[in-house]
Amino acid sequence: MNYDETVSFLRNTNPTFNPEVAIIMGSGLGGLLSKMDIQTSIPYQEVPHFCQSTAEGHEGTLLMGTLNGVNVLGMKGRFHFYEGYHSKQITYPVRIFSLLGIKKMIISNAAGGIHPDHKPGDIMLIKDHVNWFFENPLVGPNEEQFGTRFPDMSNVYDSHWRETIKSIAKEKNIKLHEGVYLGNKGPSFESAAEIQLMKKVGVDAVGMSTIPEVLVARHSGLKVLALSCITNLATGIAGGAHSLEEVYKKAGEAAENMSELVTEVLPKLS
Ligand code: HPA
Repeated sequence: MNYDETVSFLRNTNPTFNPEVAIIMGSGLGGLLSKMDIQTSIPYQEVPHFCQSTAEGHEGTLLMGTLNGVNVLGMKGRFHFYEGYHSKQITYPVRIFSLLGIKKMIISNAAGGIHPDHKPGDIMLIKDHVNWFFENPLVGPNEEQFGTRFPDMSNVYDSHWRETIKSIAKEKNIKLHEGVYLGNKGPSFESAAEIQLMKKVGVDAVGMSTIPEVLVARHSGLKVLALSCITNLATGIAGGAHSLEEVYKKAGEAAENMSELVTEVLPKLS
């Protein structure tokens, strides 16, 4: 692997910056940019061995700065299976987080709501996941410098952090669901029959990302907080076809609340 080249490049670009938390700004968290005091902004094309994000609404920029007093390495734009990337490419940045000494990761996504209480524009705190990608970025020789061959998956989405963000949401009067996220490779949306199957086994929301990054983060011992923007009701739940316009519009609506929650929770993650 070429980790050293990437790590040296980032260290040389801003030698005094010590990132504490990595934030993968998927849907809902782009607004953090305007709240962040940005010191350095690097297009992915300039970062050795990073891939380019091709998904609409996912411009690729790596940011170093502070947010609410915390040093943050932000990824504006992320990589998905449906773009044709391998799980090791998707998760390469998470290896870099770990090598930079980062121990905390926040990640967000857009998802279709399956739980009957979900409405487009709501936010769901992820408490567990179903890896329907049926691929795992940790397959292959174990990279011992990061973690163990068989990483534990019992507290993937840190339970203390979940309590912390739930209490912030309550204080701020922001509706925050908590549930199980299923990751589907896409790019096609799920069929109505698949959604019924997912519902029966306790899935609350479905999206096309996040799980690969989370698996690699947990392998190297990073703690994880993950949030879904419920942009639409999953196939067959409300009837009718999906519209991408709807997804973007509702992501925008949830964004303000999600950014506020993340900003507030940052200094409280320990
Ligand atoms: N399914 C999968 N991914 C999604 C959805 C959905 O309904 N909405 C936003 N991302």
